[in-house]
Amino acid sequence: MSPTKDFNTLDDFNFRDKTVLLRVDVNCPLDRKTLEIINDARIRSIVPTVRELSGKRAKVVILAHQSRKGKWDFTGLERHARLLSKNLNAPVRHVEDVMGAEAREAIASLAPGEVLLLGNVRELDSESEERDMDSHSESEMVSALAPLADYYVCDAFGTAHRSQCSLVGFPPKMPSASGRLMAREIYALRTIFDDPRRPSVFIIGGAKFADVPHMIERVMEAGMADTVILVGLAGNAFLSARGVDIGDASRAALADELTPENFRAATEVMSRYGQRILLPVDAAVERDGARVSVSTGDMPTAEPALDIGDGSIEKFEKVIAASKTAFMSGPAGMFEKPGFEVGTRRLIAAMVENGGLSVIGGGHTAGAAERFDLADRVSYVSTGGGALETFLLREPMPVVEALKRSKVAFGP
Ligand code: 3PG
Repeated sequence: MSPTKDFNTLDDFNFRDKTVLLRVDVNCPLDRKTLEIINDARIRSIVPTVRELSGKRAKVVILAHQSRKGKWDFTGLERHARLLSKNLNAPVRHVEDVMGAEAREAIASLAPGEVLLLGNVRELDSESEERDMDSHSESEMVSALAPLADYYVCDAFGTAHRSQCSLVGFPPKMPSASGRLMAREIYALRTIFDDPRRPSVFIIGGAKFADVPHMIERVMEAGMADTVILVGLAGNAFLSARGVDIGDASRAALADELTPENFRAATEVMSRYGQRILLPVDAAVERDGARVSVSTGDMPTAEPALDIGDGSIEKFEKVIAASKTAFMSGPAGMFEKPGFEVGTRRLIAAMVENGGLSVIGGGHTAGAAERFDLADRVSYVSTGGGALETFLLREPMPVVEALKRSKVAFGP
Protein backbone atom coordinates (compact mmCIF):
# COMPACT_ATOMS: atom_id res chain seq x y z
CA MET A 1 0.00 0.00 0.00
CA SER A 2 1.51 3.32 -0.99
CA PRO A 3 -0.25 6.16 0.84
CA THR A 4 1.61 8.84 -0.99
CA LYS A 5 4.08 9.18 -3.78
CA ASP A 6 6.15 11.75 -1.93
CA PHE A 7 8.14 9.24 0.14
CA ASN A 8 9.31 5.69 -0.44
CA THR A 9 7.89 2.53 1.09
CA LEU A 10 9.30 -0.99 1.34
CA ASP A 11 8.08 -1.58 -2.22
CA ASP A 12 10.66 0.83 -3.62
CA PHE A 13 13.96 -0.90 -2.80
CA ASN A 14 15.58 -4.29 -3.10
CA PHE A 15 16.74 -5.15 0.40
CA ARG A 16 18.24 -8.52 -0.37
CA ASP A 17 21.51 -9.06 1.55
CA LYS A 18 21.56 -5.35 2.47
CA THR A 19 21.96 -3.87 5.94
CA VAL A 20 18.92 -1.86 6.99
CA LEU A 21 18.71 0.54 9.92
CA LEU A 22 15.10 0.26 11.08
CA ARG A 23 13.76 2.86 13.55
CA VAL A 24 10.65 1.67 15.38
CA ASP A 25 8.52 2.86 18.29
CA VAL A 26 8.21 0.08 20.85
CA ASN A 27 7.78 2.46 23.78
CA CYS A 28 5.54 0.30 25.97
CA PRO A 29 3.65 0.64 29.24
CA LEU A 30 5.62 -1.09 32.02
CA ASP A 31 4.69 -2.47 35.40
CA ARG A 32 5.89 0.00 38.02
CA LYS A 33 7.29 -2.71 40.31
CA THR A 34 8.72 -5.32 37.97
CA LEU A 35 9.34 -3.10 34.93
CA GLU A 36 7.91 -5.92 32.80
CA ILE A 37 6.03 -4.87 29.64
CA ILE A 38 2.32 -4.98 30.38
CA ASN A 39 1.10 -4.40 26.85
CA ASP A 40 3.13 -5.35 23.81
CA ALA A 41 0.77 -3.94 21.15
CA ARG A 42 3.45 -1.64 19.78
CA ILE A 43 5.90 -4.54 19.51
CA ARG A 44 3.29 -6.57 17.63
CA SER A 45 2.61 -3.63 15.34
CA ILE A 46 6.13 -3.65 13.84
CA VAL A 47 6.28 -7.40 13.25
CA PRO A 48 5.10 -7.19 9.58
CA THR A 49 7.94 -4.80 8.69
CA VAL A 50 10.63 -6.75 10.54
CA ARG A 51 9.38 -10.05 9.12
CA GLU A 52 9.26 -8.69 5.59
CA LEU A 53 12.78 -7.25 5.74
CA SER A 54 14.26 -10.32 7.31
CA GLY A 55 12.30 -12.53 4.86
CA LYS A 56 13.99 -10.58 2.05
CA ARG A 57 17.34 -11.56 3.62
CA ALA A 58 18.11 -8.05 4.87
CA LYS A 59 20.33 -7.68 7.93
CA VAL A 60 17.94 -5.79 10.19
CA VAL A 61 19.42 -3.38 12.76
CA ILE A 62 16.69 -1.92 14.95
CA LEU A 63 16.89 1.45 16.72
CA ALA A 64 14.27 2.16 19.39
CA HIS A 65 13.57 3.97 22.65
CA GLN A 66 11.74 3.33 25.89
CA SER A 67 10.47 6.41 27.72
CA ARG A 68 12.96 9.20 28.32
CA LYS A 69 15.75 10.06 30.78
CA GLY A 70 14.53 11.00 34.25
CA LYS A 71 11.30 9.00 34.05
CA TRP A 72 10.71 5.84 36.11
CA ASP A 73 10.04 3.72 33.02
CA PHE A 74 13.28 4.68 31.25
CA THR A 75 14.91 1.25 30.80
CA GLY A 76 17.08 -0.80 28.48
CA LEU A 77 15.49 -2.85 25.72
CA GLU A 78 16.29 -6.43 26.74
CA ARG A 79 12.62 -7.16 27.53
CA HIS A 80 11.56 -5.65 24.22
CA ALA A 81 14.00 -7.92 22.37
CA ARG A 82 12.58 -10.97 24.15
CA LEU A 83 9.00 -10.06 23.25
CA LEU A 84 9.86 -9.15 19.67
CA SER A 85 11.53 -12.53 19.30
CA LYS A 86 8.44 -14.24 20.72
CA ASN A 87 6.11 -12.38 18.34
CA LEU A 88 8.37 -12.95 15.33
CA ASN A 89 8.92 -16.55 16.30
CA ALA A 90 12.56 -16.02 15.40
CA PRO A 91 15.71 -15.05 17.30
CA VAL A 92 16.40 -11.36 18.00
CA ARG A 93 19.92 -10.47 19.06
CA HIS A 94 20.32 -7.59 21.50
CA VAL A 95 23.16 -5.41 22.76
CA GLU A 96 22.56 -2.55 25.17
CA ASP A 97 24.70 -0.19 23.13
CA VAL A 98 23.76 2.16 20.29
CA MET A 99 26.91 3.21 18.45
CA GLY A 100 29.90 2.02 20.51
CA ALA A 101 32.24 -0.85 19.69
CA GLU A 102 29.80 -3.47 20.95
CA ALA A 103 27.01 -2.23 18.68
CA ARG A 104 29.27 -1.87 15.65
CA GLU A 105 30.71 -5.37 16.10
CA ALA A 106 27.23 -6.84 16.46
CA ILE A 107 26.14 -5.13 13.23
CA ALA A 108 29.24 -6.34 11.37
CA SER A 109 28.61 -9.93 12.45
CA LEU A 110 24.96 -10.08 11.27
CA ALA A 111 24.06 -12.70 8.67
CA PRO A 112 21.36 -12.05 6.02
CA GLY A 113 17.90 -12.39 7.58
CA GLU A 114 19.14 -11.82 11.15
CA VAL A 115 17.61 -9.21 13.44
CA LEU A 116 19.49 -7.12 16.01
CA LEU A 117 17.93 -4.70 18.48
CA LEU A 118 20.36 -2.03 19.70
CA GLY A 119 20.13 -0.25 23.10
CA ASN A 120 17.74 2.53 24.10
CA VAL A 121 18.68 5.41 21.76
CA ARG A 122 17.60 7.92 24.39
CA GLU A 123 20.62 6.89 26.48
CA LEU A 124 22.41 9.35 24.18
CA ASP A 125 21.83 12.94 25.26
CA SER A 126 21.95 14.02 21.63
CA GLU A 127 18.85 11.93 20.88
CA SER A 128 16.66 13.97 23.19
CA GLU A 129 17.60 17.25 21.58
CA GLU A 130 14.94 18.50 19.18
CA ARG A 131 17.02 19.86 16.31
CA ASP A 132 16.45 20.05 12.58
CA MET A 133 17.35 17.23 10.24
CA ASP A 134 20.43 18.94 8.82
CA SER A 135 21.93 19.39 12.21
CA HIS A 136 21.03 15.81 13.27
CA SER A 137 22.44 14.41 10.04
CA GLU A 138 25.88 15.66 11.12
CA SER A 139 25.60 14.01 14.55
CA GLU A 140 27.89 11.40 16.04
CA MET A 141 25.17 8.75 15.81
CA VAL A 142 24.61 9.23 12.10
CA SER A 143 28.36 9.42 11.43
CA ALA A 144 28.87 6.16 13.33
CA LEU A 145 25.96 4.11 11.98
CA ALA A 146 25.10 5.37 8.48
CA PRO A 147 28.35 4.01 6.91
CA LEU A 148 27.49 0.56 8.28
CA ALA A 149 24.12 0.33 6.49
CA ASP A 150 22.65 0.54 2.99
CA TYR A 151 19.13 1.77 3.80
CA TYR A 152 17.19 3.50 6.55
CA VAL A 153 13.57 2.51 7.19
CA CYS A 154 11.32 4.35 9.63
CA ASP A 155 8.31 2.53 11.07
CA ALA A 156 8.10 4.70 14.20
CA PHE A 157 4.74 6.34 13.58
CA GLY A 158 4.30 6.82 17.35
CA THR A 159 7.34 9.12 17.41
CA ALA A 160 6.96 10.70 13.98
CA HIS A 161 6.20 14.06 15.62
CA ARG A 162 9.66 14.28 17.20
CA SER A 163 12.61 15.83 15.40
CA GLN A 164 15.18 13.61 17.07
CA CYS A 165 18.43 12.24 15.75
CA SER A 166 17.55 8.58 15.10
CA LEU A 167 14.30 9.72 13.46
CA VAL A 168 15.38 12.49 11.10
CA GLY A 169 19.20 12.35 11.00
CA PHE A 170 19.59 9.38 8.62
CA PRO A 171 17.24 10.19 5.68
CA PRO A 172 19.33 13.12 4.38
CA LYS A 173 22.34 10.77 4.26
CA MET A 174 20.98 7.55 2.74
CA PRO A 175 18.11 6.02 0.72
CA SER A 176 15.16 5.79 3.10
CA ALA A 177 11.62 4.44 3.24
CA SER A 178 8.64 4.16 5.55
CA GLY A 179 7.86 0.78 7.05
CA ARG A 180 4.49 -0.95 6.68
CA LEU A 181 3.01 0.38 9.92
CA MET A 182 3.88 3.97 9.15
CA ALA A 183 2.39 3.72 5.65
CA ARG A 184 -0.79 2.08 6.96
CA GLU A 185 -1.31 4.67 9.73
CA ILE A 186 -0.92 7.63 7.40
CA TYR A 187 -3.16 6.11 4.76
CA ALA A 188 -5.92 5.17 7.24
CA LEU A 189 -5.85 8.44 9.15
CA ARG A 190 -5.94 10.55 6.01
CA THR A 191 -8.97 8.59 4.87
CA ILE A 192 -10.78 8.93 8.21
CA PHE A 193 -10.03 12.56 8.98
CA ASP A 194 -10.43 14.13 5.58
CA ASP A 195 -13.95 15.10 6.52
CA PRO A 196 -14.61 14.55 10.25
CA ARG A 197 -18.23 14.50 11.41
CA ARG A 198 -19.40 17.08 14.01
CA PRO A 199 -19.75 17.63 16.87
CA SER A 200 -16.34 16.27 17.65
CA VAL A 201 -14.97 15.64 21.11
CA PHE A 202 -11.34 15.08 22.08
CA ILE A 203 -10.74 13.15 25.32
CA ILE A 204 -7.21 13.67 26.58
CA GLY A 205 -5.80 11.74 29.51
CA GLY A 206 -2.81 9.57 30.31
CA ALA A 207 0.31 10.29 32.25
CA LYS A 208 2.05 12.82 30.01
CA PHE A 209 1.05 16.39 30.48
CA ALA A 210 3.76 18.63 29.03
CA ASP A 211 2.29 18.67 25.49
CA VAL A 212 -1.37 18.96 26.55
CA PRO A 213 -1.85 22.76 26.79
CA HIS A 214 -0.36 23.25 23.32
CA MET A 215 -2.43 20.38 21.98
CA ILE A 216 -5.66 21.93 23.30
CA GLU A 217 -4.75 25.29 21.89
CA ARG A 218 -4.11 23.88 18.41
CA VAL A 219 -7.23 21.68 18.48
CA MET A 220 -9.34 24.69 19.38
CA GLU A 221 -7.65 27.07 16.96
CA ALA A 222 -7.91 24.61 14.09
CA GLY A 223 -11.57 24.04 14.88
CA MET A 224 -10.94 20.29 15.09
CA ALA A 225 -12.73 19.81 18.40
CA ASP A 226 -15.94 21.32 19.67
CA THR A 227 -15.22 20.09 23.19
CA VAL A 228 -12.13 18.83 24.99
CA ILE A 229 -12.56 16.50 27.97
CA LEU A 230 -9.59 16.20 30.28
CA VAL A 231 -9.12 13.09 32.40
CA GLY A 232 -6.24 11.25 34.08
CA LEU A 233 -3.22 13.27 34.93
CA ALA A 234 -4.18 16.04 32.49
CA GLY A 235 -7.51 16.43 34.31
CA ASN A 236 -5.75 16.73 37.66
CA ALA A 237 -3.22 19.20 36.31
CA PHE A 238 -5.96 21.45 34.95
CA LEU A 239 -7.95 21.17 38.18
CA SER A 240 -4.83 22.44 39.96
CA ALA A 241 -4.50 25.25 37.44
CA ARG A 242 -8.10 26.18 38.17
CA GLY A 243 -7.23 26.44 41.86
CA VAL A 244 -8.58 23.09 43.16
CA ASP A 245 -6.38 21.65 45.91
CA ILE A 246 -6.09 18.04 44.67
CA GLY A 247 -3.97 17.02 47.68
CA ASP A 248 -0.33 16.08 48.13
CA ALA A 249 -0.75 12.47 46.99
CA SER A 250 -2.24 13.43 43.62
CA ARG A 251 0.18 16.32 43.28
CA ALA A 252 3.11 13.92 43.77
CA ALA A 253 2.02 12.00 40.66
CA LEU A 254 2.24 15.26 38.72
CA ALA A 255 5.65 16.23 40.04
CA ASP A 256 7.65 15.53 36.86
CA GLU A 257 5.07 17.06 34.60
CA LEU A 258 3.57 20.13 36.23
CA THR A 259 6.53 22.48 35.93
CA PRO A 260 5.83 26.19 36.51
CA GLU A 261 5.98 26.67 32.75
CA ASN A 262 3.39 23.93 32.07
CA PHE A 263 1.21 25.25 34.88
CA ARG A 264 1.27 28.70 33.29
CA ALA A 265 0.44 27.25 29.87
CA ALA A 266 -2.52 25.36 31.37
CA THR A 267 -3.82 28.49 33.08
CA GLU A 268 -3.60 30.48 29.86
CA VAL A 269 -5.42 27.85 27.83
CA MET A 270 -8.12 27.63 30.51
CA SER A 271 -8.70 31.35 30.44
CA ARG A 272 -8.98 31.37 26.65
CA TYR A 273 -11.07 28.26 26.02
CA GLY A 274 -12.44 27.42 29.49
CA GLN A 275 -16.07 27.02 28.36
CA ARG A 276 -15.21 24.26 25.94
CA ILE A 277 -12.78 22.42 28.22
CA LEU A 278 -14.53 19.98 30.52
CA LEU A 279 -12.77 18.96 33.72
CA PRO A 280 -13.62 16.14 36.15
CA VAL A 281 -16.09 17.04 38.90
CA ASP A 282 -14.82 14.27 41.14
CA ALA A 283 -12.05 11.69 41.52
CA ALA A 284 -12.09 8.03 42.52
CA VAL A 285 -9.75 7.14 45.38
CA GLU A 286 -9.12 3.92 47.29
CA ARG A 287 -10.48 4.08 50.81
CA ASP A 288 -10.54 1.02 53.10
CA GLY A 289 -10.00 -1.16 50.06
CA ALA A 290 -12.97 0.25 48.15
CA ARG A 291 -13.48 2.72 45.29
CA VAL A 292 -14.92 5.98 46.60
CA SER A 293 -15.82 9.07 44.54
CA VAL A 294 -14.78 12.36 46.13
CA SER A 295 -16.15 15.56 44.61
CA THR A 296 -13.79 18.45 43.88
CA GLY A 297 -15.62 20.45 46.57
CA ASP A 298 -14.47 17.89 49.17
CA MET A 299 -10.83 17.92 48.08
CA PRO A 300 -8.02 17.69 49.07
CA THR A 301 -7.97 13.96 49.72
CA ALA A 302 -5.21 12.13 51.53
CA GLU A 303 -5.37 9.35 48.92
CA PRO A 304 -4.20 9.79 45.32
CA ALA A 305 -6.82 10.03 42.57
CA LEU A 306 -6.74 6.70 40.70
CA ASP A 307 -9.60 7.35 38.28
CA ILE A 308 -12.25 9.93 37.48
CA GLY A 309 -15.23 9.64 39.83
CA ASP A 310 -18.76 8.46 39.04
CA GLY A 311 -20.15 12.00 38.60
CA SER A 312 -17.48 12.81 36.01
CA ILE A 313 -18.13 9.57 34.14
CA GLU A 314 -21.85 10.35 33.83
CA LYS A 315 -21.18 13.92 32.76
CA PHE A 316 -18.66 12.90 30.09
CA GLU A 317 -20.74 9.97 28.82
CA LYS A 318 -23.52 12.41 27.87
CA VAL A 319 -21.15 14.62 25.87
CA ILE A 320 -19.63 11.62 24.10
CA ALA A 321 -23.06 10.15 23.35
CA ALA A 322 -24.01 13.37 21.52
CA SER A 323 -20.82 13.49 19.45
CA LYS A 324 -20.28 12.21 15.89
CA THR A 325 -16.50 12.01 16.12
CA ALA A 326 -14.78 11.01 19.36
CA PHE A 327 -11.04 10.82 19.72
CA MET A 328 -9.34 9.54 22.88
CA SER A 329 -5.67 9.67 23.72
CA GLY A 330 -4.65 8.55 27.22
CA PRO A 331 -6.66 6.58 29.78
CA ALA A 332 -8.84 8.19 32.46
CA GLY A 333 -7.04 6.50 35.34
CA MET A 334 -5.06 3.47 36.47
CA PHE A 335 -7.16 1.03 34.50
CA GLU A 336 -4.79 -1.85 35.31
CA LYS A 337 -5.91 -1.66 38.96
CA PRO A 338 -9.17 -3.53 39.65
CA GLY A 339 -11.96 -1.07 40.49
CA PHE A 340 -10.21 1.85 38.81
CA GLU A 341 -10.74 0.76 35.22
CA VAL A 342 -14.33 2.04 35.33
CA GLY A 343 -13.71 5.55 33.96
CA THR A 344 -11.57 4.40 31.03
CA ARG A 345 -13.89 1.48 30.21
CA ARG A 346 -17.09 3.52 30.29
CA LEU A 347 -15.69 6.39 28.22
CA ILE A 348 -14.44 3.98 25.52
CA ALA A 349 -17.79 2.15 25.64
CA ALA A 350 -19.61 5.47 25.18
CA MET A 351 -17.40 6.18 22.15
CA VAL A 352 -18.21 2.91 20.41
CA GLU A 353 -21.89 2.93 21.32
CA ASN A 354 -22.82 6.33 19.87
CA GLY A 355 -22.64 5.08 16.29
CA GLY A 356 -20.18 7.82 15.26
CA LEU A 357 -16.55 7.68 14.35
CA SER A 358 -14.28 6.59 17.20
CA VAL A 359 -10.51 6.86 17.11
CA ILE A 360 -8.13 5.78 19.84
CA GLY A 361 -4.48 6.72 20.02
CA GLY A 362 -1.51 5.79 22.17
CA GLY A 363 -0.16 2.48 23.42
CA HIS A 364 -1.85 2.73 26.81
CA THR A 365 -5.31 3.57 25.52
CA ALA A 366 -5.11 0.95 22.79
CA GLY A 367 -4.14 -1.56 25.49
CA ALA A 368 -7.12 -0.53 27.58
CA ALA A 369 -9.53 -0.96 24.65
CA GLU A 370 -8.11 -4.45 24.07
CA ARG A 371 -8.42 -5.33 27.73
CA PHE A 372 -12.10 -4.36 27.78
CA ASP A 373 -12.78 -6.25 24.52
CA LEU A 374 -13.75 -2.97 22.88
CA ALA A 375 -10.84 -2.58 20.44
CA ASP A 376 -12.67 -4.37 17.62
CA ARG A 377 -15.58 -1.96 17.90
CA VAL A 378 -13.44 1.20 17.71
CA SER A 379 -13.39 2.66 14.16
CA TYR A 380 -9.61 3.02 14.18
CA VAL A 381 -6.93 2.23 16.77
CA SER A 382 -3.66 4.03 16.09
CA THR A 383 -0.28 3.24 17.68
CA GLY A 384 0.39 6.97 17.85
CA GLY A 385 -0.47 9.15 20.84
CA GLY A 386 1.28 12.50 20.47
CA ALA A 387 2.09 11.64 16.84
CA LEU A 388 -1.55 11.05 16.06
CA GLU A 389 -2.47 14.36 17.68
CA THR A 390 0.15 16.14 15.58
CA PHE A 391 -1.13 14.41 12.48
CA LEU A 392 -4.72 15.38 13.22
CA LEU A 393 -3.71 18.98 13.68
CA ARG A 394 -2.08 18.94 10.26
CA GLU A 395 1.18 20.05 11.82
CA PRO A 396 4.32 18.99 9.95
CA MET A 397 5.60 15.56 10.98
CA PRO A 398 9.41 15.77 11.06
CA VAL A 399 9.84 12.09 10.15
CA VAL A 400 7.60 12.41 7.09
CA GLU A 401 9.45 15.56 6.02
CA ALA A 402 12.77 13.71 6.37
CA LEU A 403 11.54 10.76 4.29
CA LYS A 404 10.32 13.13 1.57
CA ARG A 405 13.70 14.82 1.48
CA SER A 406 15.47 11.47 1.19
CA LYS A 407 13.35 10.53 -1.81
CA VAL A 408 14.29 13.77 -3.54
CA ALA A 409 17.98 13.17 -2.81
CA PHE A 410 18.25 9.42 -3.48
CA GLY A 411 15.18 8.41 -5.51
CA PRO A 412 14.12 6.05 -6.86
C1 3PG B 1 4.96 7.92 22.60
O1 3PG B 1 4.84 6.98 23.39
O2 3PG B 1 4.08 8.79 22.45
C2 3PG B 1 6.18 7.99 21.75
O3 3PG B 1 7.02 6.89 21.95
C3 3PG B 1 6.93 9.29 21.96
O4 3PG B 1 7.39 9.37 23.26
P1 3PG B 1 7.81 10.80 23.86
O5 3PG B 1 6.54 11.55 24.10
O6 3PG B 1 8.54 10.47 25.13
O7 3PG B 1 8.68 11.47 22.85
